[in-house]
Amino acid sequence: MKEDSLQKNNSRRVLTEPVFSDAGLEFSSTSYAGPRAEPPLRGEPVRAVRNIRVENSNRFMHPRKTSSDTRLVDFYGRDFVVTPDVLIPRPETEMIIDAVLSLVGKPYLPGVKPSKPKLPQDCRILDVGTGSGCVAITLKKELPEAEVSASDVSKEALGVARENAKNLGADIDFAKSDLLDDVEGEFDIVVANLPYVDADWDWIDKEALAAEPALALYAEDGGLALIKKLIRQVSEREIPYLILEADPCQHGQIIKYANARDYQLLESRGFCLVLRFKPVPRIE
Ligand SMILES: C[S@@+](CC[C@H](N)C(=O)[O-])C[C@H]1O[C@@H](n2cnc3c(N)ncnc32)[C@H](O)[C@@H]1O
Repeated sequence: MKEDSLQKNNSRRVLTEPVFSDAGLEFSSTSYAGPRAEPPLRGEPVRAVRNIRVENSNRFMHPRKTSSDTRLVDFYGRDFVVTPDVLIPRPETEMIIDAVLSLVGKPYLPGVKPSKPKLPQDCRILDVGTGSGCVAITLKKELPEAEVSASDVSKEALGVARENAKNLGADIDFAKSDLLDDVEGEFDIVVANLPYVDADWDWIDKEALAAEPALALYAEDGGLALIKKLIRQVSEREIPYLILEADPCQHGQIIKYANARDYQLLESRGFCLVLRFKPVPRIE
């Protein structure tokens, strides 16, 4: 990636788009600053620390090519196999991991004091729209006592996620499902980085995103159709915590929609929103 474009991007990270060169070896994390709201301030110092780590990481910027359509990409310090069937893990999604660790009171960055736990470390977590499995697998590796499940509507993505779980030795319960339609069981936390890109946003470079499945990127209703449906589903099941990734320009609408369905904003971190169902059972 060219240095000047990296500097430009550091000033405002919005939607990151991975671009591979002809040789398939270069990773460019390109931001597009559009007419959008700034992310909420709470959680920003943590995000800034994470960004420094990610943007200085040579490994992240240069995923290794293992075959014509398979690459290894670093997410939270582990290598994930990525094929054209899945979204390439983005650095901003690592905030979901930090948010879950924070909920269970586990330190996630050197020098950051752990919060008072709101849930035990053996909590039940579901990752909806798991793609490569990067979120679910990382959570299982970071919280070995947790019961982690993961779902996706794409059979192909689930194949990639299963391969990554096997490679990384993570015991995950996978299910094919349209959001929660075919997912059974009870969960303490649902995490989801669902498609949230509105195809009409004029600041996105669709060509740069063409290497990834449209199913992993775009959603109707200003990009919010799937997120809204998931909020309705988790609310019906009274799931205590919901952690979502979305573009910061969508956060206001999501919070309003969630508030009307009994979820309150607990915290926002960069692209990530932590929502809590009221009333929430407390641990002693
Ligand atoms: C933005 S990608 C996120 C992948 C991975 N969690 C990550 O953060 O890198 C969204 C994922 O949601 C899946 N998806 C799209 N529509 C879905 C639906 N209706 N139900 C479940 N999963 C869906 C896609 O197949 C894709 O794997």
